[in-house]
Amino acid sequence: MKRILIALLIAVFSVPTFADEGMWIPMLLKRNEADMQQKGMKISADDIYSINQACLKDAIVLFGSGCTGEFVSDQGLLFTNHHCGYSFIARNSTLEHNYLANGFWAKSFEEEIPCVGLTVTRLVRMEDVTEQVLKGVEDKMSEAERENVIAANIKTVTKKATEGTHYSAIIKPFYYGNQYFMYVNEVFTDVRMVGTPPSNIGKFGGDTDNWMWPRHTGDFSVFRVYAGKDNKPADYSADNVPYKPLQHLTISLKGVEENDFTFVFGYPGTTNRYATSQAVDLAANVTNPVRIDLRTIRLNHYNNAMNQDAAQRLKYSSKVASIANGWKKWQGESLGINRLDGVEKKQEFEKRFQQWANNNPMYKDVLPSMEKNYAILKSIELNNTYFNEAVRASDFMGRAATLLTLANTTNDSLIEARKNAFIKQNETYFKDFDKHSIVDRAIFIETFTYMCKAGFGGFVANKDVDIATIEEMLGKIYDKSVLTSEKNIMKLLANYKAKDAKKILKDPAVELYQLAYENLLPASSRKEYSKVTKEINRLYRLYVKGMMEMDANNVSFPDANLTLRVAYGHVKGFAPKDGVYYKPYTTLEGIIEKENPDIYDYVVEPRLKELYNTHDYGQYANAKGELPVAFIATNHTTGGNSGSPVLNANGELIGLNFDRCWEGTMSDLLFDPNYCRNITLDIRYCLFIIDKYAGATNLINELTMSK
Ligand code: ARG
Ligand code: ASP
Repeated sequence: MKRILIALLIAVFSVPTFADEGMWIPMLLKRNEADMQQKGMKISADDIYSINQACLKDAIVLFGSGCTGEFVSDQGLLFTNHHCGYSFIARNSTLEHNYLANGFWAKSFEEEIPCVGLTVTRLVRMEDVTEQVLKGVEDKMSEAERENVIAANIKTVTKKATEGTHYSAIIKPFYYGNQYFMYVNEVFTDVRMVGTPPSNIGKFGGDTDNWMWPRHTGDFSVFRVYAGKDNKPADYSADNVPYKPLQHLTISLKGVEENDFTFVFGYPGTTNRYATSQAVDLAANVTNPVRIDLRTIRLNHYNNAMNQDAAQRLKYSSKVASIANGWKKWQGESLGINRLDGVEKKQEFEKRFQQWANNNPMYKDVLPSMEKNYAILKSIELNNTYFNEAVRASDFMGRAATLLTLANTTNDSLIEARKNAFIKQNETYFKDFDKHSIVDRAIFIETFTYMCKAGFGGFVANKDVDIATIEEMLGKIYDKSVLTSEKNIMKLLANYKAKDAKKILKDPAVELYQLAYENLLPASSRKEYSKVTKEINRLYRLYVKGMMEMDANNVSFPDANLTLRVAYGHVKGFAPKDGVYYKPYTTLEGIIEKENPDIYDYVVEPRLKELYNTHDYGQYANAKGELPVAFIATNHTTGGNSGSPVLNANGELIGLNFDRCWEGTMSDLLFDPNYCRNITLDIRYCLFIIDKYAGATNLINELTMSK
């Protein structure tokens, strides 16, 4: 009796505790509430997500299609990262008004600049719709049958949820289709650019510092959402008015100390928490190394060119940012997985799962089938990698693909459209072609020869042909193709008709591209690929379900899928390697330390130096009189979380999430609290730049501060 009582007492009074790992579903946050409060949170789960009252969720948006943003005023003012606003800032920049280089600050609503194509999505409510979506689904159905039933159900459910409203709805699978949630959204299409620091603040440290700690990037930009007079989404119109959000965030200037509670509220994109050992091995040891090598080749050539002159820097910087981002992350990911013996750890778990599953006919074959399917996937995946990272590495081959598409087009009006689009592309392509062709030709030749050396280029030349000869062949293809002669390509396109397709197909670049495609990704393997990935997905659905049955603790949070999530943890330094400890925050001192007028990434604005020299930090200094710039914490985040608000125990905004530390980038597959840290821009540096550096007090006056 006494024992039962004790057990009961423990059950009632003990708080379930969770690891630092986890991206939790806002609607189900009640389950984490006690744990969050025990870790320091002073607000309730309802303050974060509720459908009965305005809550923090109403201040969080999906910014564009892959970042997060948050409302910070009752007039629709929005904060996100500089790298999230980057392409819109770039598009609104010209050489005369180079906002990317020099920054931009609207002093009034009239000066704000519309951003064509930018949307902001607010979650109205979410709902567990598993039962409705799986209605009529039976175990004995084939995957295709199952998919059909689900697709029809989804159509019915979303239609009903949005009928008679201006909302849109999307249903997403969780745990590989064991559960479904519906998201009812409001999508705003009139979004305007309000402010951005110059690149040497917003992108300080550039790709050199990207994914790294200690970090000093002022990674923020400011936008405003506009709505119709009824406060509902409306396409751009001069008559639109600033949107009045149901809730906007209060900003705290108090900052954080090591071990303080923080949480991140945003839109993480993709994780693979439940990946099998084969999947982890495939990424870490098979595809990542090839992708990294091939990107190194491209980056060397681009960086070389960018260091030659400003025009080439402008030309390549956006491209390089995206190539380098994956390149660096994969290096950290592979290192991290191997340092943690990630594959072996997965195998150990799989052994336990199999022992359990041996007595369970439903799950017995799951892992053996996984293994078989991954063996097939592995070779296709490698070919895929070579196709994307080698064959398609140069502009030359990308353009060959465009030309091939034109040759394969038979509809006359489509031919006209594609031809004209390509003519337009060529008009700009040949500007500075002399310089560009040196870079692009080298990238083309080197990526192809890399592939040949690795044994994947059999279609280029026989095995016994030496590399010098292959290089020579490739060089000839480059020089002979119409694609590298402005005169010839324009002549070909000028009067192009369907009957001229033959000419295109005879071009050596187009021939090579077609050969590459047919050899690396023949129809048979494309078919196989789609079959295998479907089967793997079905197996994961069973695997994860089995894990839950085996022990509910095996399955905590569902993988990220670009839906709104909450991650929580503590501000914390870490030891990335022997003898080194990283402190949890950086200051303006570090910017001055890194300053180097000769290195593009480390140029410091004179105005910023002036403020540093006079120590004019105002209310943005910390208790020690320093100006904080960034901090790290144990929150579990991934791509898509960029721009997410980082909040303190009271739910006040203390920073903008923008990156992770390199040593912990394996967190999409394997989270380790000793290494995984998210990087946050301290809101005090962001406001200091807006206020003291830019003098945009009109924006500061709009904010709500708790002092
Ligand atoms: N690593 C960050 C993320 O994955 C920032 C990327 C943009 N910055 C850059 N220097 N490429 O989005
Ligand atoms: N920098 C990433 C983003 O843009 C965040 C991350 O991967 O940690 O979402």
